[in-house]
Amino acid sequence: MTNPVSMLVISRDAALVRDLDRSGQTREGLSVRAELGSLTQLNGHAIRMATGQDMIVVQTDGRDPEELAAIRTLTDAVSPAAEVVALADGSASLSEVLALNQAGVGRILPVPASAEELLDEIGRLGQPRRQRRLTLKPVEARRGLIIATVPARGGIGGTTLSVNLAERLAAPKGRGKSASRPRVALVDLDLQFGSVGSMLDLAESDAIARLAGEGTEPDETLLRQSMLDHDSGLRVLPAPVTFVPPDALRPEQVAAMLDALRSEFDYIVVDLPHTVVGWMESVVARADALLLLIDTAVPSVRQARRLIDLLSADRMTVPVKVIVNRERKSLFGSATRREAEKALERKVWAWLPPDPRHARAAIDQGRPLHSVGGPLARSIAKLAASLEKDLAPSAASERT
Ligand SMILES: Nc1ncnc2c1ncn2[C@@H]1O[C@H](COP(=O)(O)OP(=O)(O)OP(=O)(O)O)[C@@H](O)[C@H]1O
Ligand SMILES: [Mg+2]
Repeated sequence: MTNPVSMLVISRDAALVRDLDRSGQTREGLSVRAELGSLTQLNGHAIRMATGQDMIVVQTDGRDPEELAAIRTLTDAVSPAAEVVALADGSASLSEVLALNQAGVGRILPVPASAEELLDEIGRLGQPRRQRRLTLKPVEARRGLIIATVPARGGIGGTTLSVNLAERLAAPKGRGKSASRPRVALVDLDLQFGSVGSMLDLAESDAIARLAGEGTEPDETLLRQSMLDHDSGLRVLPAPVTFVPPDALRPEQVAAMLDALRSEFDYIVVDLPHTVVGWMESVVARADALLLLIDTAVPSVRQARRLIDLLSADRMTVPVKVIVNRERKSLFGSATRREAEKALERKVWAWLPPDPRHARAAIDQGRPLHSVGGPLARSIAKLAASLEKDLAPSAASERT
């Protein structure tokens, strides 16, 4: 270990400065010079005193821009071999610590109770660590993609799609070193009749009911504590087990929930009820894809048209993708299809075949379709892959 041979201490603590001046001579091989005041007060004088020192210890406040500027001037002026140490009080926040680092401070020590304590700390420091202009890579803000399933009527298969799409999105991608595992959240916002939890055989959770009761806006920590892990890697926020009215959440709560999840996950799949409620606007405003699930029955197409009008009420475009459930593309007669596409003013994006046997088996076993197999599982896997591809370019441009 290389202990400093010469050290300058600048502090606003008169007792510390006096004691250091005295004890400095008594520590073997170390000459200490202590100066009362702050860097901004001492200014050019501090730089003159600091020149030639091995270590400069400055009591400072990482929140004061003038002090930070003065530290930067000092660290630029002294020899690159000299180490600048900051004394900061214990309540320094992470952003203050980063600001001090960026100003050229190598280490940060707590403000000592006595000269002895400071000298002991200095003795323990070891090799100088000069982190001049530590270039911090900007923390890339994660911005997950929000995919919501909008069922045109009850029992149409919305939850089946949400659960199994989320499971496929969470599956490992690639092999070997390039393998990645997207982080996927599945949120059941069918507050009254949510069945995501039972489809995945998960324990019950009343996190959403509590949110509704307390009226608070959830943050990352609360969500992290409330979400359940599924073997597939999915993190799930299940619907309440106790009764809550469908409009129990405020739009601001849903907005806060999705924004928090967006910063932690690559994909957030939201299962919506077939009734329209006020907080849905927060989902629609944020969604990167709205999967509108219909069947070929006329009432379903009409309802889908109404939903599209409603969803796009305040927006020029809504990222709606129409999916027809329980229908094979080839059997969805071209005349019926054309009619439906005309009514919806969009092409059908995907078809999911009828597959009652596997759909039933998956529900009975509380497992995703992928582990039971069958045509519906294969179609949802394909759908997940297309969605990943479709959303990737916009994701890349928005993330820059
Ligand atoms: N493609 C399919 N083929 C056969 N059965 C299906 C298909 N998709 C869904 N089902 C079955 O239809 C039933 C309803 O599905 P699901 O619960 O996913 O619908 P939902 O739209 O979420 O209904 P709810 O209105 O209760 O929320 C379930 O028994 C499910 O297994
Ligand atoms: Mg459902």
